[in-house]
Amino acid sequence: MQMDYSSIRAIHITSVALSITLFALRGLLQLASFNWRQWRLLRLVPHLNDTVLLTAAITLSYMSGQYPLAQPWLTAKIIALFFYIAAGSIALRENVRIGHRRIAFALALLAVLYIVGVAWKRSPTLALF
Ligand code: HEM
Repeated sequence: MQMDYSSIRAIHITSVALSITLFALRGLLQLASFNWRQWRLLRLVPHLNDTVLLTAAITLSYMSGQYPLAQPWLTAKIIALFFYIAAGSIALRENVRIGHRRIAFALALLAVLYIVGVAWKRSPTLALF
């Protein structure tokens, strides 16, 4: 099956929205000490969705010939992506002090908003300067 660029881009953006929503939801439930892991769907869907997100991202990168390292905005996205994953995993991990969890959650949200801004403006500085 052949998919055109705009469909894959739409899949990428939809899974981005779902990924941020599911992360924010789990982060808030975790902050409220609510056991969201009892719901199998909430454990499973984020992983499936993030796999779709990254597969679409790599496909877009390949199809448009824009690669990390060659394109500074894509390099910035990848670095911020690692930061989002690292901070996000601390925010959702069990046995983290509430203060640390709050900071990790806020930093992860900032990182993913930065990624969206970078993607939108195609600029590591968000075209601010
Ligand atoms: C959490 C991680 C990510 C988020 C939140 C994200 C977000 C976005 C958003 C919002 C857009 C649409 C931008 C627009 O045209 O207005 C986009 C496009 C794109 N993203 Fe991502 N992205 C992520 C990861 C990645 C990664 C890892 C790569 C590369 C390997 C990538 C490559 C691309 C490409 C090539 C486009 C299309 C730009 C174009 O059509 O010129 N993304 N991304």
